[in-house]
Amino acid sequence: MSTGTENNAPEKNGPENNGPENNGPDAGSTDATSPHGTGPHGTSPHGTSTGTTEPLLSCTDLVSGYIPEVDILTGCSVHVDRGELVGIIGPNGAGKSTLIKTLFGLVPVRSGVVTLHHEDITSAPAHRLVASGVGYVPQNNNVFPSLTVEENLEMGMFVRPKDFAERFARVSELFELLADRRRQKAGSLSGGERQVVAMGRALMTDPKVLFLDEPSAGLSPLMQDSVFEAVNTINDSGVSILMVEQNARQCLDISDRAYVLDQGKDAYTGTGEELATDPKVIELYLGTLAHIDEQ
Ligand SMILES: Nc1ncnc2c1ncn2[C@@H]1O[C@H](COP(=O)(O)OP(=O)(O)O)[C@@H](O)[C@H]1O
Ligand SMILES: [Mg+2]
Repeated sequence: MSTGTENNAPEKNGPENNGPENNGPDAGSTDATSPHGTGPHGTSPHGTSTGTTEPLLSCTDLVSGYIPEVDILTGCSVHVDRGELVGIIGPNGAGKSTLIKTLFGLVPVRSGVVTLHHEDITSAPAHRLVASGVGYVPQNNNVFPSLTVEENLEMGMFVRPKDFAERFARVSELFELLADRRRQKAGSLSGGERQVVAMGRALMTDPKVLFLDEPSAGLSPLMQDSVFEAVNTINDSGVSILMVEQNARQCLDISDRAYVLDQGKDAYTGTGEELATDPKVIELYLGTLAHIDEQ
């Protein structure tokens, strides 16, 4: 299933993304806000979806940005139903990371609404979102390379340190690697393994919905496959997922539904399969890859 054509970067074996040794998880920008709303209702053909159409998380007409008077999200509406794996693809600079960061309270919301189970969480701070069941794995610097795997997971539990043993056992059931390598420094792991540590850390707080920003970025095709498998494993365990990916084909392959984000707006939406076979989407966003796949 690997297309492996979109990301030719070799897997890095050193500390994540060549960052300095002690780079900790990147919490994104430090601006504060968070979005959601009520979007269209899609069905969820995949994983543990209950088949209800009630959105777990949603944002409506979200406008946000970093610099005054420059909007990056320009009216974006996206939702995630319970149990769904929802993908976000789109060109570089479309605002995919900004969407995730805005939803997680890290970029100021200028207008629009974000809801989590009917609760208005627009502009809620990240720590409150984590307590409400939202997890976030940033694209870069998402593990502490000089800490062990176990210590990395402890960092994910700072809000509920007493539950560590129970959560560690639960998360290690999903990913044995975390128990097997618990005393190993995260920086000594492969890029794909580090992504599992980063996702494992986010799972320690028992999120209902997990935001993933380009989990396959910078990995070899083989490692990309293993990361997408890990994403599926998490989704199958009952966690809803909103995943941004540059690796559009593979993202659509594993997504129940997906959105194409363009210029800060949801331009197209449909099931992963619908988008992957939509001539307009192929022409505008999957063109190169589509041709390669046809060969
Ligand atoms: N911290 C920031 N400050 C100012 N502008 C930013 C910041 N981060 C991203 N941008 C701008 O926002 C736009 C969307 O970026 P981003 O959300 O990272 O796109 P994508 O993830 O789709 O590639 C780009 O024009 C980018 O330059
Ligand atoms: Mg991005």
